[in-house]
Amino acid sequence: MTDDLILQRLVDAARAAREHAHVPYSHFAVGAALLDEQGRIHAGCNIENAAYPQSQCAEATAIGHLVLAGGRRIVAAAVVGVAAQPVTPCGGCRQRLREFAGEDTPVWVADLDVVRSKYTLGQLLPASFGPDHLERR
Ligand code: THU
Repeated sequence: MTDDLILQRLVDAARAAREHAHVPYSHFAVGAALLDEQGRIHAGCNIENAAYPQSQCAEATAIGHLVLAGGRRIVAAAVVGVAAQPVTPCGGCRQRLREFAGEDTPVWVADLDVVRSKYTLGQLLPASFGPDHLERR
């Protein structure tokens, strides 16, 4: 499969996941999709809660699906939202992605029509703290 086709499938999966967002409070639906090291795609949507801080971002839902399916690494990520600016992962989700991805991992940001930006995780979360920091020395 070409890189273009994989990107298209990743963005399509994030758009489809976004349709399931539970967002009665913000009305701001987000979808995310993750390509794992086995070539599989795992998607998620944001899930809000009446106790607002208990809400969950789309990326967190997608990571849960990846881990449950036995995925170990995030090879590429896509986030889909509709706003004036590209909907980049929030700070907390950048750290969540970092657990399973490296600084070169691409993070694609799209809306319903086009891919708006491409970042690496290293651009979004420079000088990050990650699993390597906890290795015994
Ligand atoms: N949101 C995400 O799902 N992912 C992000 O990276 C940015 C923010 C959600 C959280 C909340 O449900 C809504 O967008 C508004 O902040």
